[in-house]
Amino acid sequence: MKIHGYTQEDLLKMDPAPLRAILHERTHHTIEVMIYRILNGKLKKPPDFGDQARFVLEIWTKRGLPTNTPDILWCVRYVELADKLNAGKTVDLGTSMVEPFSKAELETVGKLLYQRRSIRQFTDRPVPDEIVKEILRAGLMAPQGCNVGSTRFIVLRTPEEWKLVQSDIPIENGVIIVICQDMSVYKALRFDEYVPQNIYYDAAAAADHMSLMAHALGLGACWLTHGEETQKRIREYFGLPETFVSRCHLIVGWPNEAPIKSERMSLNDVIIRR
Ligand SMILES: Cc1cc2nc3c(=O)[nH]c(=O)nc-3n(C[C@H](O)[C@H](O)[C@H](O)COP(=O)(O)O)c2cc1C
Repeated sequence: MKIHGYTQEDLLKMDPAPLRAILHERTHHTIEVMIYRILNGKLKKPPDFGDQARFVLEIWTKRGLPTNTPDILWCVRYVELADKLNAGKTVDLGTSMVEPFSKAELETVGKLLYQRRSIRQFTDRPVPDEIVKEILRAGLMAPQGCNVGSTRFIVLRTPEEWKLVQSDIPIENGVIIVICQDMSVYKALRFDEYVPQNIYYDAAAAADHMSLMAHALGLGACWLTHGEETQKRIREYFGLPETFVSRCHLIVGWPNEAPIKSERMSLNDVIIRR
């Protein structure tokens, strides 16, 4: 069997990061996006259902790579579900439909979405690691094309490190979270040929999730982007491979300003067709 043109031999010696991405992507495309329509009787189960994901998972396991991480357990769960369906068994997903938010919950969502504003000055109160982790987790859980898992983070905490990223906003306090991507993951799946736009969207979704979580935690944040010079400096400073690219960064800290919330056009001005 070949997976995206890769033979078993290729997969056995491939770097773990792209192999992991292929496992995620095959689980997503060949099981996850099909199984719910199969269960609802809208799609006939293909005869090779789950075979590709199982094949890659077996290679992952054979190589002794970690199998107890949340992402790999997610793949294992889907492969097991496919196996059950193939064996003619009924499957119990153990899931339930999401309940609509209550009025009070919607008010909280409104506070999150409509009161967030970019903050560019921070107090010198330190941002504890636990809070940074909470923000990073929100970024990690953002949607991503094919669930590939290319996003990586670097947290810059010192003035020396802050100098690595160039932008129009000086940072004097807080932390800088740099959103990076392991391009070997995209290359292995040929995103550059087929869906190059997804690469930028993945980074953007992570940044947006993080800025919302920062806001919810009482911190302020501002999105900033940077170019090739910054990308190169970061790679060199941290001794990262050429495949490692930083995309944008967030400055995050305890707010030391209360800006007027920026406004947008009215909905009527932006809806092209009802
Ligand atoms: C892709 C992107 C790039 C941005 N770049 C900058 C920047 O270089 N400097 C800056 O001060 N703010 C930057 N921002 C923040 C925007 O200026 C800000 O989101 C916008 O003015 C709306 O204000 P609000 O975030 O307070 O709603 C950027 C935001 C995004 C999404």
